Amino acid sequence: MAHKAFENLQQLFPSAGDIPEDARLGAPIHQRVSLVDGALKSWDGACKTVLSPVCVRQGSGEPEQVAIGSYPVMGEAESDAALDAAVRAYDHGRGEWPTMTVGQRIACMQDFIRRMVAERHQIVNLIMWEIGKSLADSQKEFDRTVSYMRDTIAALKEQDNSNSRFTIAEGTIGQIRRTPLGVVLCMGPYNYPLNETFATLIPALLMGNTVVFKPPQYGTLLFYPLLDAFRAAFPRGVINTIYAPGAVVVPHMLASGKIDVLALIGSSKVADHLKKQHPKSHRLRAILGLDAKNAAIVLPDADIDLAVKECLLGALSFNGQRCTALKMLMVHRSIVDTFIERFTDALAKLKVGMPWEPGVSITPLPGMHRTAYLTEAIEDAKAKGARVVNEGGGVFCKTLFYPAVVYPVEEGMTLYREEQFGPIIPITPFDDIATPLEYVITSDHGQQVSIFGTDPAQIGALIDPLVNQVCRVNLNCQCQRGPDVFPFAGRKDSAEGTLSVTDALRAFSIRSMVAARQTDESRALLDAIVTDHKSKFVNTRFIF
Ligand code: G3H
Repeated sequence: MAHKAFENLQQLFPSAGDIPEDARLGAPIHQRVSLVDGALKSWDGACKTVLSPVCVRQGSGEPEQVAIGSYPVMGEAESDAALDAAVRAYDHGRGEWPTMTVGQRIACMQDFIRRMVAERHQIVNLIMWEIGKSLADSQKEFDRTVSYMRDTIAALKEQDNSNSRFTIAEGTIGQIRRTPLGVVLCMGPYNYPLNETFATLIPALLMGNTVVFKPPQYGTLLFYPLLDAFRAAFPRGVINTIYAPGAVVVPHMLASGKIDVLALIGSSKVADHLKKQHPKSHRLRAILGLDAKNAAIVLPDADIDLAVKECLLGALSFNGQRCTALKMLMVHRSIVDTFIERFTDALAKLKVGMPWEPGVSITPLPGMHRTAYLTEAIEDAKAKGARVVNEGGGVFCKTLFYPAVVYPVEEGMTLYREEQFGPIIPITPFDDIATPLEYVITSDHGQQVSIFGTDPAQIGALIDPLVNQVCRVNLNCQCQRGPDVFPFAGRKDSAEGTLSVTDALRAFSIRSMVAARQTDESRALLDAIVTDHKSKFVNTRFIF
């Protein structure tokens, strides 16, 4: 059985000729530049080959991960250059960018968006080839990011316009605006390389900060078509890139004390280590999206078909590689058999294949280390009494891993507590509602939870303790980040700070104000500054 399933998976990998014209990348991209101090600086040092999650069959041989390009592997000297360029461009808040009017910064960003949209086709294809995300989801990621950028601009106009006035209190006249924090080190994750990176990078820039940007380990080349757009749209040194192993350059940059904001979507372990490197930790603001192990709680009166549909989506969209994915399903014992039967039936209908195939759900993972980790997690559960309850579950060929439903998963098994970040669905039964509640309370994670049920009294009684454990309780639907106007936050090891279209603007800025006693002299002084446009901060302009 397993052998047959393996062969079936192997057959899903294409030979070069099977790849549709539109989905091909063309010639490999060998990036030999980085953007530093307003110029594309060439690199002739060591480079890293980028292997796609997609394996290609060569003749009758085994499928192999295909090389789609390469990028520089830099070191501390280059990260110092990138950081110093950002520090110079900020110039203690006196640089061109931090002192520009908000309207001027928005104009630069709009110029960048125009240039970015022109690169859509290539960027979408690169997302697909670099991380194995389906074409439909790669397009969605690009489009959602552009909408996010436009919405952020609209939110900034709104924010700035509402601050374009004076406030008078207790004999003091004040004007309060949001101002930048300094130099931001921005690092995104591989699963949403464009969207989650830009969810911090764009608001950081718009608020007047300067940036050092390190792309994720998988999902680097997709930024290559944007380097010239960054160079052309923003003043020199406002955005600088570094391509280097994080462990080599990131602690080094933080230890310099020159980073004011750490924007990282990654693991809590790495975040903890990095924060400690800053010589004055109180000076470092951290905006972090970290680990999560969101649970679904399926109550005895749940609409089982709805719960199955949402849990399947929640657990397996992009192969379960979402921070918001449902990573533990807790199902009431009275319905668990029916739930598992319908869940595995629905799973069997999901299409497994290559990212460009229409309707595909399960696609290759970023490397063989992932299939090895997932296999180990399943073996651990099996050794401790659980079973894989769906046909072919856990079978893999190279980077393609068939989702495994593992039951019953209990405390003591890796899958019970650890974030699997892949296509394994652990299910556990419960008798008493105290059990899933206790699970969430004792978890190291605190991002979201989903409740499936219909009884208002029971759901109401669950909501109240759960909202103090996580930051979003989803009713009869999967966990997710969007809509992007909603606050995206987490407790415990899951996050620091809140992101959303409006919250991110706050996260990357601080209020600063000009205040004067309410005297005739002050009135005359402020009036002259405003009327003669003597300050960019003190003004009553309105951005339309
Ligand atoms: O990986 C975490 C993402 O922010 C999840 O976003 O819920 O929209 O898929 P999503």
